[in-house]
Amino acid sequence: MSSSLVLFLGLLLAHSAVSIDLQQKLKLTKNADGGSLDVAWGANDTHVEVELTYPTTGWLALGLSPDGGMDMSDVLFGYVNGDGTFVVQDRYLAAPDGVGSLSLDTTQNWQGISGSKNGTFTQLRAVRAIRTGDSAQDRAFTDKSQNVIVAMSPTVPDSPTAPIRKHSFKFSTSLTFLSAATPAPVTVVVPSVVVPQTPPPVVVVPQTPPPVVVVPSPQTPAPVAPTLIIRNSGTKIQTGTGLLIIAVTFLGMRL
Ligand SMILES: *[C@@H]1O[C@H](CO)[C@@H](O)[C@H](O)[C@H]1NC(C)=O
Ligand SMILES: *[C@@H]1O[C@H](CO)[C@@H](O)[C@H](O)[C@H]1NC(C)=O
Repeated sequence: MSSSLVLFLGLLLAHSAVSIDLQQKLKLTKNADGGSLDVAWGANDTHVEVELTYPTTGWLALGLSPDGGMDMSDVLFGYVNGDGTFVVQDRYLAAPDGVGSLSLDTTQNWQGISGSKNGTFTQLRAVRAIRTGDSAQDRAFTDKSQNVIVAMSPTVPDSPTAPIRKHSFKFSTSLTFLSAATPAPVTVVVPSVVVPQTPPPVVVVPQTPPPVVVVPSPQTPAPVAPTLIIRNSGTKIQTGTGLLIIAVTFLGMRL
């Protein structure tokens, strides 16, 4: 092999982000209408890569929990904005009295790889070291069964540091991240896919023109001379003034 080809291959290896195969997958489904939620992952010697595909257009989360509850969970949190940019964050959940506060870790150990969404699903992919060394706010991935929480919401935070609205769906289960075994699919009531509302058809109602209101002119109309219709042997006579007709008629009758 020529030295330039070796150099080329070396550069290629150095510059390509080697993605970890996501060989295991937790699939939560609801039988009735096919709502589904997937957590796929894979690991190499040092890192775990995770892909979340949840039926939401808002935020999604995967938490490593000490006991299946929310308190003291180490959370992978993220969402995709309307413009297609995505946010992946390392957060920590404190919920000592049941009310959770999902704070940003001081050290961000999750690194976003990709994020996308369509009208029904959001998909995020991220990578993290198996052991981050952040013992205060992270939990290590192990080869034992670990409690995990999946959660999502239809809302996207206003900004990466804005308050996070409560989840609309949460489910606890257990996974073994550093194991080749793939867990059996879990049947759970996953909310059905959010179908975007199609706006109702616009019905164009033909406008009937408003009735014309005739405002009487302030001028008093000119007085109209009275007319008189006299029937005389079936002939209609109509002339100028009534008085003249009456006079003529009177005379005629007298003659
Ligand atoms: C494991 O994957 C990570 C993330 O892709 C990578 O940075 C690291 O070099 C990989 N480690 C090994 C031992 O392959
Ligand atoms: C939306 O994204 C999900 C997850 O990537 C995919 O399974 C689904 O087919 C997509 N739906 C459409 C209508 O593109």
